[in-house]
This record gives sequence, C-alpha cells and structure tokens, in this order.
Amino acid sequence: MAVMDVHTNIPLKNYLTMKLGGSARFMTTVTSSDELAAACKNATAQGIRFFILGGGSNVIARDEGFDGIVIRNRILGFEIIADDSASTTVKLGAGENWDEMVAKLTGMGLTGVEAMSAIPGTVGAAPVQNVGAYGQEIADTLVSLEAYDSVSDKLVTLQNADCGFAYRHSIFRGDQAGRYGITSITIRLYKSSPQPPFYEALQKYLDENGITLYTPTAIRDAVTAIRKDKLPDPKLLPNTGSFFKNAIIEKWQLDELHKTWPDMPSFDLGEKQAKIPTGWLIEQAGLKGQVLHGMKIHDKNALVLINESASSYSDLAAARSEIIAKVRDTFRIQIEQEPLEI
Ligand code: EPU
Repeated sequence: MAVMDVHTNIPLKNYLTMKLGGSARFMTTVTSSDELAAACKNATAQGIRFFILGGGSNVIARDEGFDGIVIRNRILGFEIIADDSASTTVKLGAGENWDEMVAKLTGMGLTGVEAMSAIPGTVGAAPVQNVGAYGQEIADTLVSLEAYDSVSDKLVTLQNADCGFAYRHSIFRGDQAGRYGITSITIRLYKSSPQPPFYEALQKYLDENGITLYTPTAIRDAVTAIRKDKLPDPKLLPNTGSFFKNAIIEKWQLDELHKTWPDMPSFDLGEKQAKIPTGWLIEQAGLKGQVLHGMKIHDKNALVLINESASSYSDLAAARSEIIAKVRDTFRIQIEQEPLEI
C-alpha cells in the first residue's frame, strides 16, 4: 500500500459547497478500502476523530474547524455482482460520483435510482442521509454496504435492515455517527419500467412535455430539468441543497394548524403523523427571497440557503436561528437542519 499523504491545517471551505467554515487539522485522500481502513485505524490509535468526506455538498463546517482527520473518499468501482431476468445487482465504490453512476445505470435501462438524478455528491454519502427525491430513496434499492468499523477494527458488511434508515436519516448520522467509513454500496435495480403514480411535480412535468413513454432515461431527464430550474448549481452559487428537513408532526397538530392555515400542504405518514413541506412554512413565514447575514433564502425554493456574502459559519448559524425561530413563532413547528455538521 502506498504511503498516504497527510496534509495539515487545510481550509475546509475549499472542499465544501457552502464555502464556509474553519480548517481540518489533518486531511488525506484514500483510493481503496485498505487505505481507508488504515487511515481510520491510525486516527483511532492516536485518539483523534475521523470524518469521511465525499463531494462536500451536504456538509457544513463550524468556524473552529475539525480537530481530527478528514478522509476524502475516492474509492472507485462498478461491478455487476448478480443478474437475472428481472433485476441487476451492482456494487459501487463509495467515492464514485453519484450522478455519473445514476446516468450509467439508467442508460442500461435499469429502474430504481432514476428519480434521484442530478443530486450532487458521492455514492458513499447516499446512505448516510438516506438520499431521496421524487418518490425514491436509496433505502428502497440498497441491499447492503461495506464499511470499515472502527469499533471492531474490521471491514464489515451491513445489510439494509442494519442501517436504521428513516426519512433523511440512518445510523451513520444518528447514534453510530463517527463509527463507520463506508467503502462500497450494493444496490438492486429492476429491468421493468418506472411505474406511475409519480411524485406530483414529476407527473406535471411529464404531462406538460407530452412524455408518455416512462423509460428510466425519460424520468432521469425530467428530474434533471426540474432540479435545474429549482435548485441552484453549487458550482455557481454556494449551497447544500435542502438546508432543512421537511417537518414531521402529529396528525392532531396538523388538524389544529389547518384551522388557521387551511392551505397548508401535507403528506400522510401512516395513521398518526404527517410530513409538512418546510419550504412552504418558510415561504409563508415571509422569508423567501430575503437575505439574512449574507445567506439568501432561495427565491425559487425556500428550503435552500445560498451563501451570497456570508463570511463565516457564525453568519450561517445566525441566519439559521432566525429562520427556525420565525417558523416556530408562526406555526409552533420546530424545523431541523438537513446537512451534516462537523
Ligand atoms: N413549497 C413551497 N415553497 C417553497 C418550496 C416548496 O410552498 O419555496 C412547497 C410546495 O407546496 C411543494 C412542496 O413544498 O409542492 C414540496 O416541494 P418540492 O417538491 O420542491 O420538494 P421539497 O419537499 O422542498 C424534497 C427534498 C429534496 C427533493 C425534493 C423532490 C427534503 C429535505 N428535500 O424537497 O431533496 O429533491 O423533495 O423530491 O426532503 C435535498 O435533500 O437536498 C433535496 C433537494
């Protein structure tokens, strides 16, 4: 194994699409699972934390920086490990670019990830936040993943059920945060076409554009076009996609809120809970398009914060507090940040 280069005191803003935050005490790049394991093991032996960084499009860093080692995951790999008349199972290196993999898989005529097109970031980040869009989430197709486990000091395989997937959540950002370094994921995709009913905004786009043949590529192209219109390109305007999670509230609370806000949109989550689009809450609270502490609440999608002129994490934190407080004061709903924070 090649000796890894470790760099010190590296400004994280150069590696994060929000373009904010302090420095990492150490940083290295790994290209194989053995290298990743070695880097994590060294960190643990020296009593410092490690953080595995993919594309930096869903992570924000505090101004004090990260007092540990940031390990940039560049583990590549694309391997078909099973194929039958109905499905194909592929193993993808965690450092692969997510959207390049989606393009390749949909191009092969496979269904299961096409609605998650044009999401920035890497494959290994997808299970951490249970990436999802337009009615699909990675939890629906993920069979298993491989990771370095710093507790057992081994490369382990976790099955889907071990990952604790929930809406934008998994054990990797929950109670096991900091334990695992994901090296590959294995997903099973189907040879049948994407089936309606589709997510409302997607169906609307398909209808308006006269698209009736629902191939994986047609869905991918539609989602890419919708996202291009609503979500700012992080290469041009620093942002991390949705900055808040949608709110999950109790149905009785929704009934109360509907008395004052009859138009509040909601999606049923089983019998007792409902999901409310936080973009709607922020818009109705009057914040859409405003700039707070250099952070702009995107005028096409109030769930997104764009770093227009903020110079530090503390600016972002001040804007975040004001938005959370305004939503809480208006609706009595406590909203939560979506990106990870180091
Ligand atoms: N809405 C507003 N005003 C806004 C934004 C949204 O009223 O400014 C309302 C509308 O009623 C709209 C509803 O919110 O119908 C839902 O909006 P949208 O379809 O744009 O989706 P979202 O709930 O804002 C979620 C994901 C996105 C994902 C889309 C599409 C989260 C936190 N975000 O956004 O994921 O692309 O659905 O499925 O769940 C991301 O995680 O970074 C991300 C972009």
